[in-house]
Order: sequence, then structure tokens, then C-alpha cells
Amino acid sequence: MAMKVTVIGLGYLGATHAVAMAELGHQVIGIEADPQKLAALQAGKLPFYEPGLDKALTRVIETGRITFQPGHSESSRTADAHFLCVGTPQVSGSYAADTSYLFSAVDALAPYLSETAVVAGKSTVPVGTAKALTERLSAAAGFEARLAWNPEFLREGTALEDSLRPDRIVIGVVGGDAHSERVMREIYGPILNGDTGSAAGQTPFLVMDVATSELVKVAANSFLATKISFINAMAEISEAAGADAVALAEAIGMDARIGSQFLRNGIGFGGGCLPKDIRAFMARADELGVGSAIDFLADVDAVNLRRRQRVLDLANQELGEVAGKKILMLGAAFKPDSDDIRDSPALDIAVQLVKAGAKVVIHDPMSLAGVRIKHPELDAVQDLTSAAQDAELVVLGTEWKIYRELDAASFGELVANKTVIDGRNALPYHAWQGAGWKVIALGRNLEKA
Ligand code: UGA
Repeated sequence: MAMKVTVIGLGYLGATHAVAMAELGHQVIGIEADPQKLAALQAGKLPFYEPGLDKALTRVIETGRITFQPGHSESSRTADAHFLCVGTPQVSGSYAADTSYLFSAVDALAPYLSETAVVAGKSTVPVGTAKALTERLSAAAGFEARLAWNPEFLREGTALEDSLRPDRIVIGVVGGDAHSERVMREIYGPILNGDTGSAAGQTPFLVMDVATSELVKVAANSFLATKISFINAMAEISEAAGADAVALAEAIGMDARIGSQFLRNGIGFGGGCLPKDIRAFMARADELGVGSAIDFLADVDAVNLRRRQRVLDLANQELGEVAGKKILMLGAAFKPDSDDIRDSPALDIAVQLVKAGAKVVIHDPMSLAGVRIKHPELDAVQDLTSAAQDAELVVLGTEWKIYRELDAASFGELVANKTVIDGRNALPYHAWQGAGWKVIALGRNLEKA
């Protein structure tokens, strides 16, 4: 049955969720306070790059199932559910997550909340936040608000796919609230029934207490970050021992208990989620008096950041010193198929190289507009041929397909010195070596590989 929902906060998470809800057949009111983002969405344009989501947005706007507003209106009163999708960024100068946008969102919602509407939080939060939000909302609304937690596991680059065909749906409800569970089952019914392409009845729908549902999300991201840092730690060892971390990852990944995904070593994880989530988790565990339980996440963070330094060291080693040298950074986004530059390892390395006196030209197919605003000290060049001119060192920072498929021979004619540091282990190094390139790949010993 079609339901009516509001989606509050239309960043990567909220915009994707709003479109996904409309794709499932629901009537959606998207609420976004930022006038620029709002105007873009109202005009049918995404304020960020996400493959396939732009077309889906156009499609659902045409059906009339989605509208965008700067705030709540009378129409919110009859919604069956309100999804909280606002950001929870890292507090500046601290590891903790800033949950103030969530509290503002429930304050704004309270006057429009009905007693039967379910408020479902999707943002990533420190455990305990849902309880505090319920208290605040109930006090403001004058009745016991029904707050559920419904963490989101979508990845940028495959956001719509992950939303419509998720591995699992997790719902945290207060005191076993059957009504909240029913509403959530109804909303996700088309996914559970197999209408979106997942096999009918095969998507697990996990109902649990609110605290556990909050923890599921941070635990999942912490595990993913740990897996990446584990293989990057093995890369450090491999470099010292003359071993090959890529061959090692392949071999250990074949053990089904370990699994091969998220074992790509390189310059590490970035983005708006993993780095901030492990730090916020450490801060929350400290508050709960159990910080030592996840002390290892500090090492996960440290290993991750050391890989960036490793590229700087290798660049200095190759160039004598980087000062005054022209270095081309291929990629600025934190991962391919995204224009997100938040905590991007590629971008951070480029900035550090500039600080060390290098002349850095940075290229990226999608994120240079953001780079120019945030990092005017970098020379952001949209045309790859011009960007490569006379480079004395090339660094692959983001493994976009266009870089993986570069013709190493003709690309080699543009640069002054055919040396590349493959920060993502993504280049077909045989072809590059065959075209006369010196390839340095993190964690690898290419002579022996
Ligand atoms: C991550 C999680 O994967 C999602 O499940 C979660 O919903 C999301 O955070 C979130 O909390 O919202 P995302 O940040 O989009 O998704 O990106 P990932 O695909 O997880 O990649 C994160 C970083 O790890 C990237 O910088 C990527 O280059 C790096 N990475 C990934 C590696 O260095 N090695 C790998 O093997 C895999």
C-alpha cells in the first residue's frame, strides 16, 4: 500500500532515500533547508553526482510522487512516517559526532507530528541518541512519540541499487512497538515482496531494540574500516619484507570466513562516513566508560593515515625531493563514481605535496568544482591531456575507470618522466611497464609479482 512519508535532510543519504521511497510507490515530501540544494532538487537536478540517481529523480518527479519543500507544511501532519536523514559531522576539534542537526530536525517536526506517525532515524549516530531524541520529541509534541531507528548501509556510487536491493533492513523499535514495526514493514513491503528485483521473501527484515540498531551501523562501518586497515598494515609489512600484499589479500580472501571484499590495499579509506564514524565511536565508548574495548580503532585510524604519508615518502624518494617538482594527481574524490571529496585520501596527499613545495596539478572527472572552492592552492585541470603535460611524477589517488583504462604509451608521451605511484593498485602494471613506465604500487614488490 502506498504510504505518505517525509524525508528530512536531502544530502547523499536523504536524497537517495527520498527517491527510493518514491520508486517504491510512496508519496514523498522531501525537506531541505539549504536553498541551493532545494532549488536544484525542485528543478529535477541532483546537487551531487551519483550514477543513475539523476534519471531516477526525473522519473519520480514525473510521476508526481515527490515534492521538495524548505520546511514542514500542513501536509506533514498526515504523513505515516518521517525519516530523519540530516548529517552528523565530526565536531571540530573533537572526535565526537555533532548530533545538533537531528535535535533541530525533531524540534521543527514536533508541531506537525501525529500520534500514529513513526519517526525513523536513518543518520549514523552515537548509541543513545535515539533515546534522547525520543524524550525531546515527546516533550515537545505533548505525547509519547514513536521513534524507530532504521540505519542506512548505502554506499556512494551504488546508492540507489543499495537502497532498492539492500542486504538487510534493520529496524530498532522502542519497547517492541508493534505499530512502528508494522509501518516500516509496509513502507519496505515492495522490497520484501521482491518488486524491486530482490528475491521475494529473501531480504532479511531485522527488528531489534533501538540501541542495538544504532550500534549495528557504527559496528558495520568500524569492521569495514578495520578490514581495510588490516590489509594496509599487511602492506606495510610486505613493503619491509619484500612481499606482495595483493597476492596475500587474494590468498587470505579465499577463506570464506575472511572474504575477499574490502581487502584492497592502497592509500586507505576516506569519505564522509568511515573516518568520522570510527572516531565518533571511540568518543562515545569513552563516554560510556568502555573506551578500551575499541582502543584498536585508534590504530585503524593511524594505519589509514600512515598510508598517505607513505606516498609522500615515496614521492620524495623518487624525485630527490618534491619541492619545485610538477606532480600530477589522478583523482580527487574519495572513491570512484562519486564527486565527494570529504576526507579524500587523494586530495589530502595532493594538499600535503603542495605544503611540501610541489607544484601539484589535480585531475578528476567529477569533483574539480568542489576542489577549486575548498583548495584553491591546487591547480585543478579538467582536461587530462593538459593536466599531464610535463609531469615529473604521476600519482593514482582515485581508481576511476578512465585512469585504469589509460593508454600507457600515449599517456607517457605527455609527461616529462614516466614514473607512476599507483595508490590504489588499480593500474594494469604489465602494460604500463611495457610502455616504459616505472610503476610503484603500494604494498607490492612488482619485480617478484
Ligand atoms: C561506507 C559503507 O561502505 C556503507 O555501507 C555505509 O552506508 C556508508 O559508508 C555510510 O556510512 O553512509 P562509502 O563511504 O560510500 O560507504 O564508501 P566505501 O565503499 O565504504 O569506501 C570507503 C573508502 O574505503 C573509500 O575511500 C575507498 O576507496 C576505501 N576502500 C574501500 C579501500 O581503500 N579498500 C577497499 O578494499 C575498499
